[in-house]
Amino acid sequence: MMRSETLPDRLRKLRDRMKRPFDADKGGLDDAAVRAAYARWAPIYDMVFRALLYWGRRVGVKRVNEFSGSVLEAGVGTGMALPYYHKDLKVTGIDLSEEMLAKAEQRVRGGRLNNVDGLLAMDAGALAFSDDHFDVAIAMYVITVVPDPVKVMKNLERVTKPGGHVILVNHFSASEGLRAHAEQWLARYASWVGWNPVFAKSRVLGHTNLILEEDQSVPPFGLFTMLTFRKPEA
Ligand SMILES: C[S@@+](CC[C@H](N)C(=O)[O-])C[C@H]1O[C@@H](n2cnc3c(N)ncnc32)[C@H](O)[C@@H]1O
Repeated sequence: MMRSETLPDRLRKLRDRMKRPFDADKGGLDDAAVRAAYARWAPIYDMVFRALLYWGRRVGVKRVNEFSGSVLEAGVGTGMALPYYHKDLKVTGIDLSEEMLAKAEQRVRGGRLNNVDGLLAMDAGALAFSDDHFDVAIAMYVITVVPDPVKVMKNLERVTKPGGHVILVNHFSASEGLRAHAEQWLARYASWVGWNPVFAKSRVLGHTNLILEEDQSVPPFGLFTMLTFRKPEA
């Protein structure tokens, strides 16, 4: 029988991770690390992140509600944003983590959210939708979690209709000062916590034909940002 990992084993692993040079481009993340991290987070995610990430979700959904038609929420997680979408929208949520999606499904059933069209296990970097499918695509607190953010941006662009919108809500890292130091330190644990705290905004700009329409700071303390892009007409 395999011996399960003891606390000293785990501490040793953490110590080793701290000694490893940090790769800011990957942030130590890969799909397996993300899946493992969110399997751990799923039971307590809402309790831990409800308040901190509340404003970003409200601001993001408010922006989506200005539009009409079909919406893709990539990295829907436990579905905390779902109750706030306008009832006339048709919302599809996707996520890599089955455990997070199971929570989202409970929320949809419990809240009788009839505007939620589907919740699917899917990689935001390999979306199984046809081109020009959705009127709006939104990813909240996701782009710094994925190993290949450019691939995700390209996928979001591809599945959005010409003239439609792609919206990101996220934390982007500081380039200097105390916050930058704290983010660099925390980044050593990126694969364990499941997101990359060192992630410059420039990494999501200029890799697609999406046009940045608005760059807006989001509470609390301007820690987060909402970027609204438009896909050019064909
Ligand atoms: C920080 S959580 C944010 C969840 C939700 N958007 C919210 O506002 O609470 C990040 C989510 O992205 C998901 N995720 C990570 N990588 C992904 C990928 N490549 N494709 C789809 N979802 C992914 C994780 O499983 C997790 O549910």
